[in-house]
Amino acid sequence: MRTRNDVTPQTVVSHFTARAFKYDDSSKWCTDAAMLEAIVARLGLDQRQMALDIACGTGLVSRRLRGQVKALVGIDFTDAMFDQARPHVDALVKGSAEELPFAGQRFDLVVERQGIQFMNAATAVAEMARVTKPGGKVCLVQLCAYGDEDQEEYFEILRLRNPARRNFFRREDLARLLAEAGCTAVTVTDFISDEDVERWADNGAIEDERRQGIRDIYHSASPGFNRYHAVRIEEGGKIIDRMLFGIAIGVIPG
Ligand SMILES: C[S@@+](CC[C@H](N)C(=O)[O-])C[C@H]1O[C@@H](n2cnc3c(N)ncnc32)[C@H](O)[C@@H]1O
Repeated sequence: MRTRNDVTPQTVVSHFTARAFKYDDSSKWCTDAAMLEAIVARLGLDQRQMALDIACGTGLVSRRLRGQVKALVGIDFTDAMFDQARPHVDALVKGSAEELPFAGQRFDLVVERQGIQFMNAATAVAEMARVTKPGGKVCLVQLCAYGDEDQEEYFEILRLRNPARRNFFRREDLARLLAEAGCTAVTVTDFISDEDVERWADNGAIEDERRQGIRDIYHSASPGFNRYHAVRIEEGGKIIDRMLFGIAIGVIPG
């Protein structure tokens, strides 16, 4: 895991306040039903479960879980994001995922998608584990580098795309975070999403200079990067990247 220490919670809130109006359309993966199915298929949902969606944003994960569980609670700290989640959760809490305002062992299922890259990841995952009941599941879904060959270029692309990003992951980081938080039976599954880089980079909160920097890296990508990302530059300049998400799940010992 690579970490930057110059990001404050205020930077994160400002970034997502600027992005909120177009967040749901800012990547294919955001609303991709196939990705949500891949997550849900591994959670073993049932109507007796209390579920928590960490960094719920506009509620895209919550919408898929709600109705499949007894109750779904969302937590986030950016008003412009979580205001959009209101219709899709049973309860919404404004707060920090690094200090969850819940008693221990309260939820059967605690899920985060694309949230812990903005946090002290170890603290946030430990908090997720703390509020999960024995036998319950903790799930992390994160964009990851494939490995040594692509990580330097990819981490630079991710840094340019999101100035509020603090952590850069590989799949093994997700497994380690869960294990260090006390989870057992940890699994990490790949989910591949072919993303239109221009749509993904045009997130409403970064300058042209950063978007150009991202294009430049794709245009001069190394053979190692290309081997994994299978970068396609189509007619008209559209860039397609085979992005990797890790879906990591661990169980709290019961
Ligand atoms: C990329 S969005 C992900 C939203 C949603 N989970 C999804 O999959 O679409 C990141 C969200 O994390 C929230 N966030 C970042 N750091 C947070 C923290 N420490 N506590 C609560 N929310 C946080 C932001 O406000 C933003 O809404």
